[in-house]
Amino acid sequence: MPYPKISSLNTSKKLAARLAALNLELPLDAEMVAGDSAPLAQTLDWQNKLIGNRFAILPMEGWDGTLAGQPSELTIRRWRRFGESGAKLIWGGEAVAVRGEGRANPHQLLINDANLTALEGLRDELEKTHMRRFGCVDDLLVGLQLTHSGRFSNPDFNRQRAAPLVYRHPHLDALVNVQKTGFHVLTDSEIYYLIDDFIQAAVLAEKAGFGFVDIKHCHGYFGHELLSAYDRPGDFGGSFENRTRFLREIVKGIQNTTHEIGIGVRLSVFDFCPFMGNSHEVGVPQADGDYPFGFGADATGSQVDLTEPLQFIDLLSDLGIRLVCTTAGSPYYCPHIQRPAQYPPSDGYQAPEDPLVGVTRQINATSVLKQRCPDLIFVGSGYSYLQEWLPHVGQAAVRANHVDAIGLGRMALAYHDLPADVLAGKPLRRRNICRTFSDCTTAPRQGLVSGCFPLDPLYKKMPERKQLIDLKRGIKKS
Ligand SMILES: Cc1cc2nc3c(=O)[nH]c(=O)nc-3n(C[C@H](O)[C@H](O)[C@H](O)COP(=O)(O)O)c2cc1C
Ligand code: SF4
Repeated sequence: MPYPKISSLNTSKKLAARLAALNLELPLDAEMVAGDSAPLAQTLDWQNKLIGNRFAILPMEGWDGTLAGQPSELTIRRWRRFGESGAKLIWGGEAVAVRGEGRANPHQLLINDANLTALEGLRDELEKTHMRRFGCVDDLLVGLQLTHSGRFSNPDFNRQRAAPLVYRHPHLDALVNVQKTGFHVLTDSEIYYLIDDFIQAAVLAEKAGFGFVDIKHCHGYFGHELLSAYDRPGDFGGSFENRTRFLREIVKGIQNTTHEIGIGVRLSVFDFCPFMGNSHEVGVPQADGDYPFGFGADATGSQVDLTEPLQFIDLLSDLGIRLVCTTAGSPYYCPHIQRPAQYPPSDGYQAPEDPLVGVTRQINATSVLKQRCPDLIFVGSGYSYLQEWLPHVGQAAVRANHVDAIGLGRMALAYHDLPADVLAGKPLRRRNICRTFSDCTTAPRQGLVSGCFPLDPLYKKMPERKQLIDLKRGIKKS
């Protein structure tokens, strides 16, 4: 990659110079503040609860549930580590499907009556681990992310079923192989049934002791795709009101059937057109400057337009939803805007921009939404690429009120207790820092479990690591 590595930008002056060369304004504190007055140590007030600090763990699947959708030992370990991280907000744990056919892979967790005890146990393990290390769970908020994977549903692996679509898409239909499997555009009445599944899932999540459910609207999955159903006829397409009916109906149903579980939404604030390329080539946009499918994008599909995302945030506020987690695009068709990385995953492409541009884009978009609705709690994403600078940028962003909590995705797999170290004023353990090798994305793309194979001692020892290395060698040669 022709861009300077973060490890080479080893003073704040060098990073600031690089940002200036890219014409980027990224909040950055040269020094970290320790102790009770530290911006990242401040509490957040949510529904009569104080969330204990400004770190959040983002939802991170491991492709490691049982075929029945229950957690495996690997899942339980990941959640224990989330509990041990020091973060006081666990945003959803990982994507959990509300019905079998909407699973993104055959190992995705599934919420139903049969799996209720196992999911309750998973939350309990996380909280027990947190209690053992930090002595208090009163200020810990744990949510569950509810999903239907829409066109990216792949419950049998190898895409054997007709893809459940919101609408036909000139680029994405081919990506999910509709020529081979066929497709099925969900009817309005099928969407109403799906709404019921989300409501039932929230009822179960409350029984399992979760503090909130995330009604996932990101990454190209069902809820997110609905937001761009501009041409779909009927109740769920066309106007903004119709495209958000799915969310509004789910929220109404949850509010009518549950007691006190909260609601959050993870939103791809902006989307870009699909990019193509291979792991040796720079990604190229596929839309030729005309892309009418990007929620939060301009008509070219390559620039951010926050007109509708701002409307969406107003809607969340009107619905009484205060928890929002921002993210961008999709890992399937524009990964460089979603999880900026030094090295692409096996099905990705070389970054068409310095990943610092992608990080800044997410931080700035979140800041615009935060200024619009200051009472909402915003959790930001996409910080892992910053590596050593993550705490410095996170602290500056929270201090300047650009965001309320710093979400950790990949960093939480590589260096699970970074928040605890930062809050204790300890120097970072450099050998644990995520270097955005993308193995945690490459592995599941090849049908393996996900985890930090290069840095996590457990995954380093797994036979899958050797498989992954061989696979990457093969890709390099080809
Ligand atoms: C292995 C892996 C699994 C992920 N699983 C989920 C998921 O289940 N739900 C979700 O909303 N995002 C998921 N994400 C996206 C992350 O939550 C996060 O948005 C992304 O990694 C960017 O944040 P980061 O820079 O801190 O890694 C996943 C990402 C990775 C790498
Ligand atoms: S495999 Fe590890 S180092 Fe690589 S991106 Fe994932 S978490 Fe980071």
